[in-house]
Amino acid sequence: MSSTPAITAPKSDIVPAAPPPPAHVAIIMDGNGRWAQARGLPRLAGHRAGARAVRRTIEAALAHNVGWLTLYAFSSENWRRPRDEVSDLTALLRHYIKSEIAELAANGVRLRFIGEAGRFAPDIQASLAEAERMTAANTRLNLTIALSYGGRAEIIAAARLIAGAVASGEIDPATLDEAEFARRLFTAGMPDPDLIIRTSGERRLSNFLLWQAAYAELIFLNVLWPDFGAAHFAEALADYAGRERRFGARPA
Ligand code: IPE
Ligand code: IPE
Ligand code: MG
Repeated sequence: MSSTPAITAPKSDIVPAAPPPPAHVAIIMDGNGRWAQARGLPRLAGHRAGARAVRRTIEAALAHNVGWLTLYAFSSENWRRPRDEVSDLTALLRHYIKSEIAELAANGVRLRFIGEAGRFAPDIQASLAEAERMTAANTRLNLTIALSYGGRAEIIAAARLIAGAVASGEIDPATLDEAEFARRLFTAGMPDPDLIIRTSGERRLSNFLLWQAAYAELIFLNVLWPDFGAAHFAEALADYAGRERRFGARPA
């Protein structure tokens, strides 16, 4: 066997450089109700199981060194659900923050909340503010939870602030740009999401990060949120790694 031809090129020649991993992953955590229904359980059981999936997802983000994770937990429109379900969800939120905050803080997680916090009960508002304050110096994972969040409401709120600044002469409408506008969004200072994952098989954004999602890669998974785990997170990152992001420019 003196002249076996080289049939494989050196690895570096055939494997394209992997694109950088997503700096910011955002997730629309959908399907708790269907998960419960499939088991003949009340919807609350699905929301509780969903909270356990949140825990697994944070662990996965930490393991993959994702710096920013944003979770859509409750939309502005979710207030329209039956009163019992809304009160179950707010009770779960109250419990979740109290039970998880110490461990999140110890793991270097910085918590932020985006949305209309003022619509929650005063004790919840206080514990959201306290959780943000307690973790403000952490840098390992920026975890943002969207609560009573709606993309259109967020854009209108920013527009209102801009209008006020124009009226007071602080901003000249002729020079208003995207960066100036984005500084008035709930997400001011945060990078835009690189990857948005939605579970449950629905293929829509449901008013999530409308401004920020302009160039996000979208992944829709046929898994109900309470079943989501580390393997799904890894699968989504692998799918993302194969995408070509162009931002409107000519393909390479
Ligand atoms: C997501 O699960 C949780 C919230 C929206 C609060 P759903 O409650 O929407 O579950 P499905 O979509 O009805 O299965
Ligand atoms: C989106 O899910 C909101 C969250 C996951 C928090 P919904 O279940 O409220 O969305 P629609 O009603 O199916 O669009
Ligand atoms: Mg849903």
